[in-house]
Amino acid sequence: MKKVMLGFIVATAMLTLAACGSSKKAESNHYVDQIKDKGTLTVALNPEFAPFEFQVIKDGKNTIVGSDIDLANEIGKVLGVTVKFQAMDFNNVLASVESGKADIAISGISATPERQKAYDFSTPYYTAKNVMIVQKSQANAYQSLQAFDGKKVAAQKGTVQENIVTEQVKGSKLVSLTKNGQMINELKNGTVSGVVFEEPIAKAYVAANPDLTIVSSIDFDSSKSDSYAIALPKNSGNLKKEIDKVITQLKAEGKIETFVETNFELSQKATK
Ligand code: ARG
Repeated sequence: MKKVMLGFIVATAMLTLAACGSSKKAESNHYVDQIKDKGTLTVALNPEFAPFEFQVIKDGKNTIVGSDIDLANEIGKVLGVTVKFQAMDFNNVLASVESGKADIAISGISATPERQKAYDFSTPYYTAKNVMIVQKSQANAYQSLQAFDGKKVAAQKGTVQENIVTEQVKGSKLVSLTKNGQMINELKNGTVSGVVFEEPIAKAYVAANPDLTIVSSIDFDSSKSDSYAIALPKNSGNLKKEIDKVITQLKAEGKIETFVETNFELSQKATK
């Protein structure tokens, strides 16, 4: 009797294991097939982040452009599908991947250990340090992080820059805003004293706003910044593999760097 029972338990265990194995496989393959069946890859992003994603008027129409768009289109080409961009506030970008509203998110997203718990991330495609921007006329007064004691410093809602302000600009008061354009306006009119951005975005804003400047003597702890990667649903198996292949190839050819440079120039022309 015992032997029969044991045999039964072992058999059940083996069946369960086998079932797990096969369902896992089906799960990881289903994303690529699903996207190919639909014929579209839906990408969530917050296009207020030149040179990575921003809007320009093209033929009288508002169009989303940027190096992340170029990257997304390369992925679309490899998968043989059309890429659709869904614009939203940054603090909704990741959630839209979780809810299935978007297939993936490409939005200059830092692949933090915290976010990695909830999402799969592609291989990293870009690394940028954080910088502080201030009014040029006040730059002399803001040469160190301590100079912001008691002052307001802005960061975009839902970004890692919020943590950078609270953890590294300790004496300051964090102002979280959804729109990057609003942060720039508040800096220009003196409502906030500084804004934290990753360098390429700061450079784009400063180039378009000659009354602003990057404080070059301020260095943030870069061990706490994570590279940009594409966010995917958890266990996205061969979709991640396909995307990683595209990124690895583009990086090897120096194309990502080119995308960022070309779009930086485009963003400067667009704001003139
Ligand atoms: N890298 C930062 C983060 O992941 C900021 C990203 C903001 N991206 C955007 N498109 N607004 O939190």
